[in-house]
Amino acid sequence: MTAQHPALAVEHIDLSDTEFWSWPLADRRAAFALLRSLGHPPFYAEPEFIFGTGPGYYALVRHADVMEASRNPDVFSSGKGATSIVDLPVEFNEYFGSMINMDDPRHARLRRIVSRAFTPRMIQRFADDVGRIAAEIVDDLVSTGPCDFVENVATRLPLTIICRLMGIPDDSYRMVLRNTNIILSGFDPDLISEDMDEAVGQILAAGGELADLVTALGRERAENPAGDLVSALVTANIEGEALTTAELASFFILLVVAGNETTRNALSHALVLLTDFPAQRDLLLADLNGRLEGAVEEIVRYASPVMFMRRTVTRDHHMNGHDYREGDKAVLFYWSANQDESVFTDPARFDIARSPNPHVGFGAPGPHFCLGAHLARREITVMLRELLTRVPGIRAAGPPDLLLSSFINGIKHLPCEFSG
Ligand code: HEM
Repeated sequence: MTAQHPALAVEHIDLSDTEFWSWPLADRRAAFALLRSLGHPPFYAEPEFIFGTGPGYYALVRHADVMEASRNPDVFSSGKGATSIVDLPVEFNEYFGSMINMDDPRHARLRRIVSRAFTPRMIQRFADDVGRIAAEIVDDLVSTGPCDFVENVATRLPLTIICRLMGIPDDSYRMVLRNTNIILSGFDPDLISEDMDEAVGQILAAGGELADLVTALGRERAENPAGDLVSALVTANIEGEALTTAELASFFILLVVAGNETTRNALSHALVLLTDFPAQRDLLLADLNGRLEGAVEEIVRYASPVMFMRRTVTRDHHMNGHDYREGDKAVLFYWSANQDESVFTDPARFDIARSPNPHVGFGAPGPHFCLGAHLARREITVMLRELLTRVPGIRAAGPPDLLLSSFINGIKHLPCEFSG
């Protein structure tokens, strides 16, 4: 993609403007490089929103700033307002305010209960499922022929795995997908109404439908536990801890949204990257087992499926040359940190052998580091191994149709082609 804004100046860049997020990737890359070169974090007015307009935010665009803010949750809080740029009203927090929007001790309690259920051992039990489902997806792909990669490949694995893990019945999968798409639709008119009131209603209804589904399931599993995650969460663990009905509903929404919308986009970006960088594809195919792990990390760095999370400053604080005041909003731009030229040599190059690769695609070290990182890595690895072993010639047949969002680096459609 070629840059269309060669004489870019800081005053042309407004991260709150929806239009900025429709700029070609090369232009957005140049814009963030310019912002990183400033001696201070840029400040932006907040986008107008139905709940009113907030005080604005500092954009943390440098790797060092994102790392420092993540490591200091006492100063950079997730629980005040929300991790979205706008503060969420109470009725939203009821559904969408799980652990990602909390600080300790509430965050620690939830994460402890969930981590005990969401163990590598639990994930391991689903390892065979991941392999089998990936094989079925590729069987179907081979018989379908060239098609939309997002719908036919990337969407299916994360959706099926997260639903299986939770114990969601097969006939609810489409409903789960529809609702997670609405919740993370950004400003994209293909997925959500352009009328703000209507859009809010759609998001609340989507959350409500997911909450009802898991509440009914939780009730049933409390009576008759099965081997799934919902059973583990509603049955008290060794410390006698379990989730309440409301906590289970919010956690479920977070998990299906975070589990689906991210891994799917990482897989779709993988096909774009392997098409755009043929030498890297050849390198990978020459030693799939040896190089896949590095490739997966580089895909997550390069794609940064979650582009930002917000924090709120709890007390006056000095960081990297800037004085923050209590109540300031700081937005951690993971996508920009992952392009920081002071950490990643030639960051625009997709380099599957990049080492070290201290990307922050799953968040930076700190209490909110992605709970599903090991599951996501496994899903991407298994899917790519299956795909590149059986359909090594697969490539994108045209440009990706990108989601219009500042939050999720999403691909709505991606034509793919292959022969043989
Ligand atoms: C490539 C795939 C994924 C990416 C890029 C990703 C990215 C992220 C990021 C950046 C955060 C940090 C949030 C923060 O700093 O406030 C996060 C947190 C989280 N992720 Fe992921 N994620 C992925 C896959 C998954 C999967 C598969 C699951 C679950 C099955 C999941 C569940 C979560 C949860 C529950 C949190 C909140 C953790 C907390 O607040 O303690 N993610 N993820």
